[in-house]
Amino acid sequence: MDERVVTNELLDEDIVSHSLRPKYLKEYIGQTEVKEMMDIFIKAAKNRNEALDHVLLYGPPGLGKTTLANIIANEIGVNIKITSGPSIERSGDLAVILTSLEPGDILFIDEIHRLPRIVEEILYPAMEDYVIDIVVGRDTGSKSIRVELPPFTLVGATTRFGDLSSPLRDRFGVIHKLEYYTTEELHEICKRTASIFECEISDDSSYEIALRSRGTPRITNRLFRRVRDFADVLNDGVIDRKMTELALSKLNIDKTGLDSKDHAYLDGIITKFGGGPVGLESIAASIGEEPTTIEDVYEPFLLKLGFIKRTPRGRVATEKAYKHLKKTHNTRLF
Ligand SMILES: Nc1ncnc2c1ncn2[C@@H]1O[C@H](COP(=O)(O)OP(=O)(O)OP(=O)(O)O)[C@@H](O)[C@H]1O
Ligand SMILES: [Mg+2]
Repeated sequence: MDERVVTNELLDEDIVSHSLRPKYLKEYIGQTEVKEMMDIFIKAAKNRNEALDHVLLYGPPGLGKTTLANIIANEIGVNIKITSGPSIERSGDLAVILTSLEPGDILFIDEIHRLPRIVEEILYPAMEDYVIDIVVGRDTGSKSIRVELPPFTLVGATTRFGDLSSPLRDRFGVIHKLEYYTTEELHEICKRTASIFECEISDDSSYEIALRSRGTPRITNRLFRRVRDFADVLNDGVIDRKMTELALSKLNIDKTGLDSKDHAYLDGIITKFGGGPVGLESIAASIGEEPTTIEDVYEPFLLKLGFIKRTPRGRVATEKAYKHLKKTHNTRLF
């Protein structure tokens, strides 16, 4: 599959930039409300010498859920164990992880909506009473043994809040939605990234990168690296407005951060389906993309920009989308 520069999903190249992750709350830019609340909860738990209440973070990919989970552990000064929903297949796998925790530790489960149901059920008593019931033996000889766990904090992350079962959701004391970042916040993030790479960047360049980052820090960092590549090869490493514009236009990223795939999607709704409403399956098939990718990667940002609407009868392109693509409504001649 060809990779999109502006995808908010994690790509291999993002992992290299591990050092870009802020380590403490004060370096975490934006998400003011979440930050303020977490600061209080962390301080309270530390003062009482108790484990922090379980935290659920949700929101689109690349907004800083994993980063925040690591920050929570750093701020409290405890270990963090990192795993993910799909990688825990059996309840025994989870039991092994839970029993290896030290008091106060953080267990981070990414994509927690993808935990198998039987594994999820082990979590209920673990979260509520710090115990798990392990079944040993088989058939008539089997019995259940109760194992005590140290007090710990579960930090769950999900991009799909709606897919979480309500018993699981209800067991989190703290639930936060991460929001898309403002251009000013992304501008800060871009400048921070440039300084970590010891790279000079003009203010209008970092602002331009921020504008086209789809509200997502992961994309800001990625666009920055691409622009820096252009500047290194063509401009002695100097990142100015001209280099930035050139790189971003070569990457086919328009002024609002949309790439050719977003254009194909919008163009599909407008020209193939008369502006909609069109069902998810049909639009996905018409541009050769998976419906889930459309829902999780394309649409959240287009909805946020107000370029599409989801109606009970399907997706509709809005007036804003027509304007942006410089399209006119097809009027019937006959
Ligand atoms: N508030 C922030 N300030 C500065 N940089 C940030 C912030 N949030 C995220 N980043 C940067 O963006 C990158 C992506 O963040 P992160 O991996 O935490 O996203 P995520 O929400 O866990 O995404 P996913 O849902 O794909 O797991 C990080 O590596 C970090 O460099
Ligand atoms: Mg993550």
